[in-house]
Amino acid sequence: MNKNKVLVTGGAGYIGSHACVELLQAGYQVAVVDNLANSKLESLSRVQQITGKSLSFYQADIRDKQALTDIFATESPSTVIHFAGLKAVGESCEQPLTYYRNNVYGTLILVEVMAEANVKQLVFSSSATVYGQSSCNQYTEDFPLGAINPYGRSKTMIEDILRDLSAADKINQTEFPWKIALLRYFNPIGAHESGMIGEDPNGIPNNLMPYVAQVAIGRLAQLSVYGDDYPTRDGTGIRDYIHVVDLVKGHIKAIEAFNSQKFEGGACKAYNLGAGKGYSVLEIINTFEKVTGRSVNYKISPRRAGDLAECFANPELALKELDWKVEKNLEDMVADTWNWQNKNPDGYI
Ligand SMILES: NC(=O)c1ccc[n+]([C@@H]2O[C@H](COP(=O)([O-])OP(=O)(O)OC[C@H]3O[C@@H](n4cnc5c(N)ncnc54)[C@H](O)[C@@H]3O)[C@@H](O)[C@H]2O)c1
Repeated sequence: MNKNKVLVTGGAGYIGSHACVELLQAGYQVAVVDNLANSKLESLSRVQQITGKSLSFYQADIRDKQALTDIFATESPSTVIHFAGLKAVGESCEQPLTYYRNNVYGTLILVEVMAEANVKQLVFSSSATVYGQSSCNQYTEDFPLGAINPYGRSKTMIEDILRDLSAADKINQTEFPWKIALLRYFNPIGAHESGMIGEDPNGIPNNLMPYVAQVAIGRLAQLSVYGDDYPTRDGTGIRDYIHVVDLVKGHIKAIEAFNSQKFEGGACKAYNLGAGKGYSVLEIINTFEKVTGRSVNYKISPRRAGDLAECFANPELALKELDWKVEKNLEDMVADTWNWQNKNPDGYI
């Protein structure tokens, strides 16, 4: 087993490509497995240009057990960061089986192959959507889970599976127990400061920041702001946004923590990765206009059913146990999004 090698599933995607940059720059060797269902290989060529280092790439589906087994045999990683998954909430409501098959079944195959290869360090991309809806606006990790859509439930199911796997180590008194970090992301935005990699959504973006950027650059006509009568400082919804580079650094901190007392004897632990404070939709728009000098055409629309007024992370556990906190602010997130959008108006082509 190569202690320095990390296998990254979904590494060609938005967050995965940024993780590859940080891993390579931190001195890790990287092997990526991605079926390119929602990404382009160009992202990894850019990763190699940014870092001046190379990585191995396998175009494979994580549900293909034989392919994964062969990749583990060739690469001998010590750790896996598991980003591969489908992530569009609306699509998950229309096609729940596709989501459960890809995300849940895919993860089952991955952990089976890992167990067979005796690779038992795993960082998993979970999501704040596991908390679902509640009147609580600042989530701690022990807050009750209650995802409200198939995407969120696929993440909850995977978390349950991974907790069960870790619990079984105690019963079986396993010699090399699982070390698993469930990282619950809030709203990742921004791009690498080089402007060479960033979020390249297929079709109309689901998330606010890429939407704003595409309106500013003229690819989309207008942004709808859903509700300006919430009990917040300016009436629009407040969310916790986190720069994607801060986010991926949290993954490296988790890998480092696997070697610390926190994970001694094996453990499966959840951590919120968020800023711990929120920005409103209007604050995002205003900052975007200030940083870029472009105006963002928007209109106020009625509230959307199910949206909360305010929702953000309590990231204290990640600070305490992983020594991680965000370093970048909203201006950085906007400037980096804009730099990426400007340099790549049509995304990766
Ligand atoms: N972006 C967000 O807002 C957000 C928030 C919370 C959690 N997450 C989670 O983080 C992870 C990465 O998100 P992202 O924004 O980078 O998404 P992304 O779509 O850009 O990246 C996911 C990658 O996984 C690949 N993939 C999907 N299914 C696969 C399969 N069966 N086999 C192999 N590769 C497969 C895709 O081709 C893509 O490259 C996802 O699991 C997502 O659910 C994302």
